[in-house]
This record gives sequence, C-alpha cells and structure tokens, in this order.
Amino acid sequence: MSLRFSNFFMSLIFSLYFISLLPRSTSFSTIGVTYSAAANTHLPPEHIATAINCLNITSLRLQDSDPNVIRAFTYTNISLFLTIPNSLVPTIASNRTNALRWLYVNVVPFYPRAKITIISVGNDILEVSPEFAELLVPAIRNVYLALGDLGIRKISVSTTFSFINVITTPFPPSAAKFQDSSGDNVILPLLQFLRETNSSFLMNVYPYNLFRLNSEIPIGIALFKEHPFNFRDDLTTGVRYHNLFDMMIDAVISAMAVEGHEDIPIIVSETGWPSSSTSPYEVDANIAYAEMYLKALVGHLKSGLGTPLRMEGVAETYIYELFDTESKQETKQTIRKWGILYPNMTRKYNINFSGSARIGRSRVMVKLAIGIFLVFVLCFSQ
Ligand SMILES: *[C@@H]1O[C@H](CO)[C@@H](O)[C@H](O)[C@H]1NC(C)=O
Ligand SMILES: *[C@@H]1O[C@H](CO)[C@@H](O)[C@H](O)[C@H]1NC(C)=O
Ligand SMILES: *[C@@H]1O[C@H](CO)[C@@H](O)[C@H](O)[C@H]1NC(C)=O
Ligand SMILES: *[C@@H]1O[C@H](CO)[C@@H](O)[C@H](O)[C@H]1NC(C)=O
Ligand SMILES: *[C@@H]1O[C@H](CO)[C@@H](O)[C@H](O)[C@H]1NC(C)=O
Ligand SMILES: *[C@@H]1O[C@H](CO)[C@@H](O)[C@H](O)[C@H]1NC(C)=O
Repeated sequence: MSLRFSNFFMSLIFSLYFISLLPRSTSFSTIGVTYSAAANTHLPPEHIATAINCLNITSLRLQDSDPNVIRAFTYTNISLFLTIPNSLVPTIASNRTNALRWLYVNVVPFYPRAKITIISVGNDILEVSPEFAELLVPAIRNVYLALGDLGIRKISVSTTFSFINVITTPFPPSAAKFQDSSGDNVILPLLQFLRETNSSFLMNVYPYNLFRLNSEIPIGIALFKEHPFNFRDDLTTGVRYHNLFDMMIDAVISAMAVEGHEDIPIIVSETGWPSSSTSPYEVDANIAYAEMYLKALVGHLKSGLGTPLRMEGVAETYIYELFDTESKQETKQTIRKWGILYPNMTRKYNINFSGSARIGRSRVMVKLAIGIFLVFVLCFSQ
C-alpha cells in the first residue's frame, strides 16, 4: 500500500509539474443527455431525436437500449452511448456468442449510420447486483472481442459506476480511493482493460447526492458559487476548489492514481439536480437551484478550464435526464423530477447547450421534410 501511495504522490507531482508547463487547453467537454425509453413509452422515438436536435445537444446516453430508439438516430450525427442491462452480465460473461447476439440486435443493423460511440456493460452493478461483480470484466472483454469479431473498432466498451458507491473519503480530493471491496477485484482489472483499449472510465457524479449525505457541505459550493468550505483547500496538492463537481472529478482521478492509472479519460455518465421532490426534507430540490446547477455546469464545461488535476477536464458529460418521467405505480419512495424537458416536451430551463460540442454544420440540416416539420411543431410551439 505504501508503495502505491508513494507512486501516487510521484505521479501527482509529475502531473502538477506538467500542468504548470502546458498552456490551458481550449478543448471542451461534450454535453449530452440521458434518456430512458422504458420510462417514456408514450413518446415516438423520432420525437426524441427532434427534441435533442432542438436543444442543440450532440450526445445521447440510452439507459436501456431499445432498437427502435437507436434506429431513430440513424443519419443524425448525434453520438449514442448504449447500455447493456445488468441482468445480461452473467450470460455475456459466460460466452462471447451471447455478446455477439446482443450486438446483432442493438448495433449491427444500425452501425455506422447511427453514431454509436460507447457501450456500457451494466450500470452501477456493484451497488445494484453485487453478486455479478466478478463477472463484470469478463463480460466487458467479451463485448470488446465480439465487436472485434464484427470488425468494429471504433466503439469503446466500459462500465458505469456511481461516485457515492465506489469512492471513499472524497475530502480532500487527493485522499480519495476506491472502496477496498471493489478496488482490487473489479476496479483494477477494469482500469487495466480501459488502458489497453483506450476506453474511458464512466462515472455517475451527483454533487446533489453528496451534498444531501454530508451536512458539512454548503449548498453554494454544490451550485458552483464561491463559498467558504472546510475542505475547499486541498493541502496535499495546494489546490483551492471552487465547486463540488471538480472536487468529485479530482477525487476520481486520485482514486485511479492509487491504482496506478490516473490518466484514463473520464466520462460523467450522469449528473443533474432535481427540480422537485416529494420528500418534505428535500427543500433544495427546486427549479431555481436545478437551473442554477445546470447553467453553471454547462458554462463550466464550455469554459474548457478542466479541473485542477486534469486540465482537459472530463471528456463527455451526460445530464440526467431528458424528460421528467411520470411514475406509473403508487410508491412510498421519494419521487424526484430531473428532466430538462417537461413530459409535454417544452423546455424547463433556458440553457444554451450549443457550442458545447464540435457541432457540424450539416447537423442543422435536419434531414428530410418530416424532420423539418417536426422541428417546427416542437421547437416553435412553446
Ligand atoms: C458458446 O455458445 C456457443 C453457441 O451457443 C456454443 O457453440 C459454444 O460451445 C459455447 N462456448 C462455451 C465455452 O460454452
Ligand atoms: C490506443 O491509442 C494508441 C495511441 O493513440 C494507439 O497506438 C493504440 O493502437 C490504441 N490501442 C487500441 C487498442 O486502440
Ligand atoms: C407543458 O407542461 C408544463 C408543466 O406542466 C406547463 O407549465 C406548460 O404550460 C406546458 N406547455 C404546453 C405547451 O402545454
Ligand atoms: C441551436 O443552434 C442554432 C444555430 O447555432 C441557434 O440558432 C439556436 O438558437 C440554438 N438553439 C438553442 C436552444 O440554443
Ligand atoms: C448559444 O451559444 C452559442 C455558442 O456558445 C452561440 O453561438 C449562440 O449564439 C447561442 N445561442 C443563443 C440562442 O444564445
Ligand atoms: C458530426 O459531429 C462531429 C462531432 O460531433 C463533427 O466533427 C462532424 O463535423 C459532424 N458531421 C456532420 C456531417 O455534421
């Protein structure tokens, strides 16, 4: 352990040295949005494509891969992040043929006309289905090998974790590490795989949830407002943090450094702030704070400033989620609304997402007559 730590500090010093030499990068994080077809069955997939075009968003993460939704994105130039459900992990881990079978349904009929860029094998599996933990990396490898069998080399394969479930001691960021139970058996082999295949580490990062769990955190720092906070100065790295999002990203980088893999790209597979909650204790789940968080987040990502430990910042960020989902069954659980659109497809916030990615001109060429018609109906009917 102490050897790993000294490696970590060496690499930290090296990274800081290089950061001080290099000019600030101007590349910025791509901003995307998440969407669940299962939770929005009443909406035709073409309307989803149109809604995303209207918002000038260029990347979509599908929380459940539905071939009909993927089909709606062919020829759109919107990049797609697909998710393989946790329940398929054991089958796919057991036999590569099963990975091929999934790809034949969800990828082969559409690729490359649909710009599928990444496949996450499972979502938050260590928390949701810990019994499959040891099967995760074998399943990821089988999907990777099956893509190779198909001659597809541009889709990367990874898996998604949740910050609060895998990172311990987020403060100060330089002290963060992965929980022991997951570190050596799952995370380390995963990081090795990501390094070998040039893939990214996918993490759900919710300052809102960390703020709720930790009464010491002032709301200001979670909402990108300058605010005094006991932990905003990281004495080990000499960095002062101005927002919780950067602290969480740098905590992930520090945790990866403990495992010897601090330079793997990070994609924020989910982030957001709820505009309402059914719980009377969640007064901070309100539309004003949600707009403040999302606006500041988008501004921060567009600024290209990165985080103190990583000047290029995160590679992509997906906002959770496109629509408020209407919960169908009566439930005692707290219901939160996270959508950037209301279920009737009108905008909840006035946020300009464009310029957040390298938007091509012909992306605006919103295809065929039906596309143009839908744009008129949906963009101008508000
Ligand atoms: C994987 O599945 C294929 C087809 O179902 C079968 O032919 C093959 O023997 C299986 N391989 C293993 C290692 O179970
Ligand atoms: C990863 O990227 C490096 C440098 O860009 C390249 O040389 C290597 O072939 C890539 N590896 C894979 C598996 O794509
Ligand atoms: C859409 O729904 C929102 C929230 O329920 C409402 O405020 C808005 O007026 C609706 N817009 C239209 C065009 O129906
Ligand atoms: C989307 O981009 C176009 C072209 O850059 C711009 O005219 C439009 O205002 C943008 N829409 C939004 C909602 O920002
Ligand atoms: C949105 O931002 C882009 C680039 O940052 C800018 O070109 C565009 O004019 C903005 N659109 C609106 C409607 O403000
Ligand atoms: C598609 O998007 C990519 C980046 O997202 C951009 O570089 C490219 O120019 C776009 N192509 C078209 C045809 O719009």
